[in-house]
Amino acid sequence: MPTRLDILRESEARLAGVDSPRLSAQLLMAEVLGCSTAAVYLDRDREVAPDQAARIAELVARRAGGEPVAYILGRREFYGLEFEVAPAVLIPRPETEHIVERVETLFARESAFHFADLGTGSGILAVTIATLFPHAKAVAMDLSEPALEVARRNAARHGVADRIRFVRGDFTRPLPHGPYDLIVTNPPYVTEREMAEASPEVTAFEPASALVSGEDGLDHVRAMLGPVLDALRPGGALLMEVGWRHGEPIKKIMSRDFPEIGPVSIIRDLAGYDRVVFLRK
Ligand SMILES: C[S@@+](CC[C@H](N)C(=O)[O-])C[C@H]1O[C@@H](n2cnc3c(N)ncnc32)[C@H](O)[C@@H]1O
Repeated sequence: MPTRLDILRESEARLAGVDSPRLSAQLLMAEVLGCSTAAVYLDRDREVAPDQAARIAELVARRAGGEPVAYILGRREFYGLEFEVAPAVLIPRPETEHIVERVETLFARESAFHFADLGTGSGILAVTIATLFPHAKAVAMDLSEPALEVARRNAARHGVADRIRFVRGDFTRPLPHGPYDLIVTNPPYVTEREMAEASPEVTAFEPASALVSGEDGLDHVRAMLGPVLDALRPGGALLMEVGWRHGEPIKKIMSRDFPEIGPVSIIRDLAGYDRVVFLRK
């Protein structure tokens, strides 16, 4: 019978054409063997039963076809919590954690604020914030009913479903259930050109409606700023994830269309890329 190391090597070779072949092979093996990724190595001389080897080969074949590991496993971690993911929702990205980090600096743990998560997808923002702030209440909105179903299950998984109202709706229209103390959102912001050049792992598997936003990536932002600002209470905060070069264009839109609101600040990551726009009404 082949050992764990034999299968790991063979899987890695079959995954040579996709992103992160070694990590993908480890994660898929760990899933089937019911162990940690570290144990795949630590017990590398252990033999793998034929049914498990066959199951690993099946998952590796899906990955070799470009399917992201998160969809194959049906889960992804965000801010230390595990979330269900499915093809109806965007796979949570670490960039989005910047929003939660900032929320943690804005509100005291026991504070009872009311917030909206617009374009909730898998529900990561609404559910993580509701988990961190036990008295906060949320409205989580998405156009996609299949996405809202995933988000509802994630809220139930983390015990916060009773504090999140899930709403199917369009965030470019007047927003219901306001006013809000806080609005968080990670709207689609990929430009058409970036999408055309993106890895097939993104374009063939993740929902385009969750990613693309016109020629300059700002169609959704332009359309949602009015309703968002209307729905914030005076002093309420907006934290919006943006494209890596979108900070300045958004500042310009704000000073032209909403000169009474300011200042608008741009939160950058360690590499210096624009990540989040922050403002108070
Ligand atoms: C970039 S994804 C973000 C998902 C999730 N919040 C996250 O951070 O992983 C954008 C989400 O916005 C939703 N969406 C796109 N246009 C929308 C609109 N006009 N109104 C409401 N939701 C919209 C998409 O269905 C998708 O779930």
